[in-house]
Amino acid sequence: MLAGKRIILGVTGGIAAYKAVYLLRDFQKAGAEVRVTMTPSATRFVGSETFAALSRNEVAVEVFNDTEPGKNWTKHIHWGEWADLFVIAPCTANTLSKIVHGQSDNMLTSTLLAARCPILICPTMDGEMYESSSVSKNLKEAGELGFYILEPDTGYLASGLDAIGRLPEPDAIIKRSAEIIKDHQIQGPLTGKKVIVTAGPTREFIDPVRFISNPSSGKMGIAMAEAARALGADITLLHGPIKEPIPDRLQTEQFITADDLFEMMKEHQNAEIVIMAAAVADFKPDSSSDKKIKKQGSGSSLKIDLTETPDILAWLGNQKKENQILIGFAMETENLIENAHTKLKKKNLNWICANQLNSEGSGFEGDTNTIHLLGPDTQKEFTGQKSEIASKILSEIFDL
Ligand code: CTP
Repeated sequence: MLAGKRIILGVTGGIAAYKAVYLLRDFQKAGAEVRVTMTPSATRFVGSETFAALSRNEVAVEVFNDTEPGKNWTKHIHWGEWADLFVIAPCTANTLSKIVHGQSDNMLTSTLLAARCPILICPTMDGEMYESSSVSKNLKEAGELGFYILEPDTGYLASGLDAIGRLPEPDAIIKRSAEIIKDHQIQGPLTGKKVIVTAGPTREFIDPVRFISNPSSGKMGIAMAEAARALGADITLLHGPIKEPIPDRLQTEQFITADDLFEMMKEHQNAEIVIMAAAVADFKPDSSSDKKIKKQGSGSSLKIDLTETPDILAWLGNQKKENQILIGFAMETENLIENAHTKLKKKNLNWICANQLNSEGSGFEGDTNTIHLLGPDTQKEFTGQKSEIASKILSEIFDL
């Protein structure tokens, strides 16, 4: 359940902060990607470097960036959108109180307010604190506000007392996290299905400063990824160099060349659905110079020999897995339907989305498009915003 999921681990200032290190490792062993945010007082118990090294991610403690003022200070918003689950372990009485009252005076509490995912609080405190009337009241309110609470264990505490307040073992936190993620999966026709969407152009380098590419913005691919996600799919978006902002909630990997994308696709070749919206360059220079090619002056010419890039979609079609659905795109300047039909058959695809480059409201960089969706026995035309078209395409394909 946790494989491929994104978890923010919030660590607050209690002695059990050291146990969060083991929890982080166990989340990773379960296949989750973890980012850590700590309150300033948590860093007095465990150094942020420990979490940074283990999570292979920066650890967020401050909202404001003192070294580069004004830069990257909206990280709490991006992290909040990125996560599938936020786990606060250990959660002190102080942070619990802030959460219940909607305070956002540090990175952890700010990210928490921005989060759109479920939040699991693991209250951990010593002595009589857990049973104090104010903590009890805050816990009750936290439950009413929709936060998940994992009761602490009873046992030996740092003070020497034997009482309720210990952070539960990592196993118990992992188990509860998996249950919560399962309960929050978007329920739709593609729930649990592994879907790969590609978007944007490739770059095929002639030398370190020049490349062959195309104006693909990646908008259609992102729209397809968002539409599939809304149907519950487990999406990975493979994208080329694009300026278009990608929603943080999408899991992404970046390629530059057609060869990069081919290697990535080999890793994902068992995906149940592949939506190939990337504008892959068909040719690359025979060889790429590692030094900038200098012009010779006086109108001299330069010849570049090109060789074909691997046809990734044809390769997938050639060794198509049982029940796998391959959806291609075709951009044409003439004989749209005929050429798209040929590609559908030749590449052994289930569907192809054809669009005419030179027709109004269609093409690479705009927000609108006209797509002709072709299946073996279907032909439908959709016009409108790329996001609307993407939903319509999937509705048609999955008969919704
Ligand atoms: N495609 C691919 N690998 C390539 C070229 C294209 O996987 N090297 C995919 C594209 O992502 C698209 C489909 O194949 O989904 C059709 O791409 P398109 O460029 O329209 O067609 P080509 O097969 O390259 O044929 P042509 O350029 O001759 O029209």
